[in-house]
This record gives sequence, C-alpha cells and structure tokens, in this order.
Amino acid sequence: MPQVGTVKQQDFKTCDQSSFCRRNRAYADRASADPNFVSPYMVKEDSVLLKDGLLSGELINSQNQHLFVFELHLLENSISRLRINEKSPLKPRYDEVKNFALARELPNTLNYTERPINTKDHDSLTKTSIYFGNKKQNMVVVHHSPFRIEFLVNDLPIVAFNDRGFFNFEHLRIKKQAKDNGDQTSDESSSEDAEDEYGSWEENFNGKRDSKPNGPESIALDISFPGFGHVYGIPEHASSFSLKETRGAEVGYSDPYRLYNLDVFEYELDNPMALYGSIPFMMAHRKSASAAILWLNSAETWIDIVKSKEDKHGLSSLLYFGKKLPTSTHTHWISESGIMDIFVFLGPTPADVFRQYGSVTGYTALPQYFSISYHQCRWNYIDQQDIDEVDLGFDTNEIPVDVLWLDIEHTDGKKYFTWDPAKFPDPKKMQNSLSVKGRKLVTIIDPHLKRDDGYYIYKESKELGILVKELNGNDFEGWCWPGSSSWIDYTNPAAREWWGSQFKLDKYQGATENLFVWNDMNEPSVFSGPEITMPKDIIHHNAWEHRNVHNVFGLLVHSATAQGLRNRTPISKRPFVLSRAFYVGTQRYGAIWTGDNMAKWSHLAASSPMLLSIGISGISFAGADVGGFFGDPDIELLVRWYQTGAFQPFFRAHSHIDTKRREPWLFGEPHTTRIRNAIRERYALLPYWYTVFQEASETGMPVIRPMFVVFPEDEETFEIEDQYFVGDSLLVKPIVTEGQTSTEIYLSNNEIYYDYFTFDPVRGSGRIKVDAPIEKFPVLLRGGSIIPRRQRIRQSSALMRLDPLTLLVGIDQNGEAKGSLYMDDGETYNYQNGDYIHRNLTYSSYSKLISTSFPISGDNTNFVKSIKDVRVERVIIIGLSKKPTKILAYHNDENNEVNNNQGLTFTWGQKDVLGTGVTFTNTNDQVLVIKDPKVLVWRDWTIEIVF
Ligand code: GLC
Repeated sequence: MPQVGTVKQQDFKTCDQSSFCRRNRAYADRASADPNFVSPYMVKEDSVLLKDGLLSGELINSQNQHLFVFELHLLENSISRLRINEKSPLKPRYDEVKNFALARELPNTLNYTERPINTKDHDSLTKTSIYFGNKKQNMVVVHHSPFRIEFLVNDLPIVAFNDRGFFNFEHLRIKKQAKDNGDQTSDESSSEDAEDEYGSWEENFNGKRDSKPNGPESIALDISFPGFGHVYGIPEHASSFSLKETRGAEVGYSDPYRLYNLDVFEYELDNPMALYGSIPFMMAHRKSASAAILWLNSAETWIDIVKSKEDKHGLSSLLYFGKKLPTSTHTHWISESGIMDIFVFLGPTPADVFRQYGSVTGYTALPQYFSISYHQCRWNYIDQQDIDEVDLGFDTNEIPVDVLWLDIEHTDGKKYFTWDPAKFPDPKKMQNSLSVKGRKLVTIIDPHLKRDDGYYIYKESKELGILVKELNGNDFEGWCWPGSSSWIDYTNPAAREWWGSQFKLDKYQGATENLFVWNDMNEPSVFSGPEITMPKDIIHHNAWEHRNVHNVFGLLVHSATAQGLRNRTPISKRPFVLSRAFYVGTQRYGAIWTGDNMAKWSHLAASSPMLLSIGISGISFAGADVGGFFGDPDIELLVRWYQTGAFQPFFRAHSHIDTKRREPWLFGEPHTTRIRNAIRERYALLPYWYTVFQEASETGMPVIRPMFVVFPEDEETFEIEDQYFVGDSLLVKPIVTEGQTSTEIYLSNNEIYYDYFTFDPVRGSGRIKVDAPIEKFPVLLRGGSIIPRRQRIRQSSALMRLDPLTLLVGIDQNGEAKGSLYMDDGETYNYQNGDYIHRNLTYSSYSKLISTSFPISGDNTNFVKSIKDVRVERVIIIGLSKKPTKILAYHNDENNEVNNNQGLTFTWGQKDVLGTGVTFTNTNDQVLVIKDPKVLVWRDWTIEIVF
C-alpha cells in the first residue's frame, strides 16, 4: 500500500523509461540534428479526393513503403479534424475513444472552396489548398511531399502539422523472431525506428513486466503554433498556467508533460509529471488570435514543448512585430497506441475556441444548485453521531453547508454500496434528518471491488463476466483499499448499464434521493500495479488492451455513475458525482477535484493555475481540497484557503484520516468568523455563480476565466495565473502567502473597478496595490457589471431558494452597467423545456435599471409559478456622482408604479451594505442603496432614478 511521504519519483516513469517516448524523442533529435532530414511520409499523388468537405487520400512512408489513409474533415464553425490510420493494419488499431469523449459528430461543412487544388509551389512540390469557414476566412494547405499541413486564418499561419518532420506512425508488425522462424509474411519495415530497440516488444519497470504482444505501435506528430508565444491546457499537471518548455538547456523541464491518469501521492509542484486526469487539449493565444487542438487519444501520451524566435513564415511583417522576432511554440505529441485523430479549432477569439471545443466535446452540464455551494468532507466522519455533531456545529456557528460527505470508512469493510452497520445503523434516517435542513449526503463509491463472494456487487459482476480480465482470461486481481480487488470493465456498455442500475433506490440499500456520489481511485488506482495502476496488457471489452483505454477509464466510471443517478428516479434529476480521474468530455457528467494536495501555502497557490488549466480545457466544475488534504494547516493558511475556495467553482473542505479535526469552528474567534464570512459570501453569491454556470453550459466559456480570456489583446495578461475572473464581473486575487496583508492586482486598462467589500473605487491600469488584511481578500467588482446576490444567509442553499434578491450595480465610466440572472428549479431537467427565467439587467446612462427577458424564456411555467413572489429587496448602485432626489419602480406592463409617487426609500453613502456580516469602513460616499423596490424577479421591470 502506498505510504504517505514525499512523492516517490521512482514509482513513476520518465520519458526515458517509457520506450515509445524515448524512441520518438530520439527520432525528433535525429530529425533536428540532420540538416538533410526530410520526413519520409508523402501523399500518394493519385489518391487525393475532395468531396463534401472531406479531403481524403493515402500516405506512404517512403522508407518502408507502408501505406496509411488520411481524412481531413472540414467541419462547421471553423473546426477541422485530421484522422490517420494504417491502410491495412495487421489488426484493428484502437479507435473507440471518440465514442466516449465526443458529445456528437459534427457534419462536414459544404462551405468550402478548393482554390486551387494540386498546385505546385516554387519547388515544384504539389499542395492542395482549400478555403473554408463562414466567410472562407480559413485555409488549409496540405503539402504532399513531404506530408505537411498548415492552417491559416485570414492568410496568417495558425497551426502547422509535421513542420519539423517528427511525424512517426509505427505500424503494427510481426516480431522478428517469429519472422525468422519462417512462419510469417514479410515485413520490410526494418527502419531505424522501433524494431530492435529495447522496450519495443517487452518492457519492465520497477520489477513489473509489460508483455507488449503487439510490439511498437506509437504515433507521434509535431504541431507548431507559429507566432504564438504561449500555449495552455493539457491538464492535469501541477504546473504553471502558461506551459513551460521541456527541451533544451535551461528551460522549465527536462521531461515532456505526461498524460497518464495516475494516483500520485503527495504530488510535487512545478512538475510535468502525470496526475489523476488527462485532457489532450492545447490552446495557443497571441494578440488577435486564439486556436486550439485536441489530440483525441486515450493511451499514455507525452508532449514536448519548445519555443523559438524565428521568422520562418515571414511572421514579423505579417504580425506587425516590427524588428522584434515573434516567438513561436512547437510541440511534439507522442502516444503509445491507437490512431491519430486531431481536431483543430481556429478561433479566432478565446470565446470562439471554447464554443468550438464544447460543440464537439460537450459543455459543462448544468449542476444541481446545491452542488455549487459549500461541501464538508473528511476522511472520515466516523459514525452517525459524528455526522449529527458536525451538522449541528454548522447551525450553532451560523455557517451554511449543503453537503456532508462520507469517505471509505462508512462502508462495511470497504465494500461500496454498503454501510458499516455499527457506525451507521440507519442511513435513511440520517439522510432524512439532513434533508429537513435542505442538506445532502455524499458517499464514496470507488470502482475496485473487494473479492469476497459474500459481497453482492462483486459476486454479480463476476457472474456476469463484466470484470477486467488478465491475459489468461481470469478476472484481473489487484490490491486497493479493501485488499484483494477486481474492477468492473467500464468500457463494456453492458457493464456500465449494470453499474448504473446499482444506484436504483431499491438496490443501493440505505440510499435516498438525497444521497449523491463520489467516485475516487478511478484512474484506476491499483496499489499493486505498475505505477500504481493497471498493467497495460490486461484485457477489456472487445479484447482491447488496457494500454489503449487507460486515460478514458475514469471518465467511464464517472459517466456510468452519473447515468445511474439520473435513472434512479421516475423523473430524472441532474446527478452530482465527483470524480478524481477525468478525460475529454468529463464536463458532461460532473465535477472533479485536484486530488491529494497538501496543507501548504505552495499548494494553495498551485490551485489557481491548476484550475485555470482544467477550466479552459472544458471542465469548469473543479476545485481543490480546502485546507489541503495531507497535513495540518495553521489557522492563517486555513482562513486564506477558505477565502480562495469560496471563489473557486467546486468548494469542498477535505482532509486525510491522520490530520487533526478542522471543522470551521474549531479554532475559536476571530478565526471562526473569518471562515464563516468566506462561506457566507459564497452563499450570498450563489445566484451569480449559477448564472455563470448556466452560461458555461451553453457557450463553453469557463466559469473562472484567465486574464487573457477577458483581455485577449493585452500581452501583459498572457502569463497571469494568480488572479482570474469569476464570470466576467468579479476579479479575484487569492492571498497565498503567509503574513501577507496587501497585494498587487493587475488591471488591464483604465476601467473602473470597485472593492467588492468596501465599494471603494479602484482605478488605474497596470499593477495596483490593494489591501488584503486577514479579514478580507482582494475581490473587485468590474465597473459596468450587475450581479445578483442573496443576503439572507440560511442553513443551506435550498432554504434560500425563495428569498428575495439584492442587485449590486457597479457603473462604468460611461455611467452604464449590465448583467444577467438565470434561475430554474436547480435540480430537474425541466429547464430544457423552457422552465426557467433568464433576465437581462441593464443600467443605462438614462438612469434606469431595467430587467427584460432573454429571448427564449418561459414565463408561465412551474418554476415561474414557484417563484412568483420572489422579489428584488435591495439595489445597491456604486459609482453615481450625485445623490438622487427620487426613485421610482414599476413593472413594465403596468402603468401604475409599484410604489406611490413619493418614490422609494433610499440611502446614500451607507456602510456595511452587503450585510453578510463583513463590516468594513466604506470611504466611498457614492453608494446608493434602494430599499425594497418590490419588483418581481420574473417580470419585466424598471427602476428609475431621478436626480
Ligand atoms: C484518496 C482520495 C482522498 C480520499 C482517500 C480515501 O486518497 O484522493 O480524497 O480521502 O483516497 O478514500
């Protein structure tokens, strides 16, 4: 069993210890070192065909005459997709991950022009050029000899494949020995690539053998982003947000970034080592252009990154760099097996890239409302009494909480779906008493099954034959929390179906509708396995080796669980499932967290770049264990962690079994108050968070947004990773250093901001000093924003559902502001049938605050009926230059005012208007607080301010 200590580097492979990575790096080195090197892959001249947005043809490796087929799909919305496979592989190569990762297959666009095809360039080499996109602004050029592809937008190069000639497709082959025995057809491929190298046909690591019956089968390609100095994404790594170089002297890392879902205990920071999740999505950004690629492959993958200053494509004149040479980023993608399947998203804005990527892989599922509030977890709340006391502790201390969590010790001997009968004699009663306060329970359900014939889940799955198999056909056995264990084969649709059905309320004894689920250890973590995971040569459904499916395994556990929760009630409710492992498309199923971090300031700091990377890669619903999992945080760190966590999308405190108890009230005053304020602030802002999540679910815009996404033209923002926006209205700069009481925040231009807690204006551009005493953390309201809040904090979010709202309006230099408010029942799918309200809120320079409906809002539905009395009880407007004389409010379809002609009561320059308990001296006397305008949130209304 893994020990808690420092990360054991020696447990995990370096590129050099992974033979396919080593081979491809060596290939790249040979190509770079030899001035005469030419990539051996060529398009077969007579094979190219363009029809209905699909360019297809054959490639030949001129060294060994091996044939490949390629398909270049020109899809809608400036998306394209390149697929390459062997023409006649010895046996099929794995190509099923698309069925799990993609939300849908996009049709090819018909909006393209081949102009001109098969021309010769100045070296008399043939190329095929096609214009595509709505305005034919995109062009793809396929160079035939050697094979190379360039993507251009408005004639500027954006992405290039095989620019450096590292394309390498190891075809399946018969082992030489067998050939020598004369029992095999010929294989002419004794190229210098893979054949004879150590590790090609068998590999050993830390005494564990990978039998590699298929031999070398890796695929690799260099992908360049000419003129782009920054690339982002490819989570999960505890690394910087703008990715570092991995090759060359004095660069960030010496190993490539690795994508291989692993259970890394006490992971190290600033490291390209693989962690629990993998998303082979990389985004490049420069002034005026964003683009991204998705390398759709679920095998172990390594990515090298180097940057260069060069003018290969005449970029300096094209990009107006003047005399300065632009930086370009060159990447090298290496996967162990499968086929090549690459999407290219041409932007050109960050928002376009997110929309394009989401249109293929799915947008964030709209979460249940409760799940974006505060969660209290610990390994472990030991019994019913413990849960009762924690539950009560929140009430006594007036701290809201929505969910209490039970870790592995709640089970009967680590048999998931069971309860320890002595500790939890009546789980239903426990859930029911939580639900009275609107609270939920989450139990952990891991994918390893205790091999115990008395355990029904194991017994049934064994009998159904849906467990992962050894090469010899026996059920695979490994070691995990329960000891000897087996694993469901989630790649098998029947197994996923069966797993999902285990969540039915008549199956999962002791569960109620109020119980939600946590899937941990789903990388999968196998304590006895190589690199603490499954051996690569064991067998899944349809005889695929684990090697091929490794990175998608966790997503399949997650999706099967989510589907199970969705189906457990006659009317589907949105599932809430937290997963540790993740892959492309995880956002469709639930939340993830960054695993076993540590109670250290450095880990608190690392949570921001990690969550930003995960967020731009599609998964907005993510968080880090508040307080740090391993170790005991001191109270200052804990307070700062709560303040940070309150402004991260998934907000859960969690801690290791060996740590001291740290429920928010255990440290006494003034600490409890500080933690209480942070959590209450989260609750106050839930209407805003939910509105931002709804936007993410439709547009792919991340919930927390890196600075460059909000200010794509400002180069100063491109590397910023320690501050970010929640939505587009709140700028947050977590305090992640001990003893710090002020900090600098970067403001991109001369917009006006307001301190969120004091309402004081913050102006300027560049690095601005802001106060950050321990009671407070830097959160700025961007001028020009309107955000909805709820100021009556109760025991849980459910109990605040019918409470009135407060609107916080921060006006900009032009005297204007805008925002929106999305509300629905927070748990069902009725919103998909129009059962929601979506309000447009604007404050115009004509001094009117107006609420109108977004175009497609159903206003006479069950949800609207349920909130028909919910009103706006307060409007706070910051930034007016003079005191009004009168304020009127009315519903737009009624001529009479809600109030009489005397107008509404208001104050000017009041202190502590946020009213969540945080009291700060407000030096801004230009704060207008309008009391109880009584306008109903679901209706069109106007509040008119008369000066
Ligand atoms: C893993 C999880 C951690 C959990 C523990 C026990 O280490 O990452 O969150 O508490 O297992 O289940």
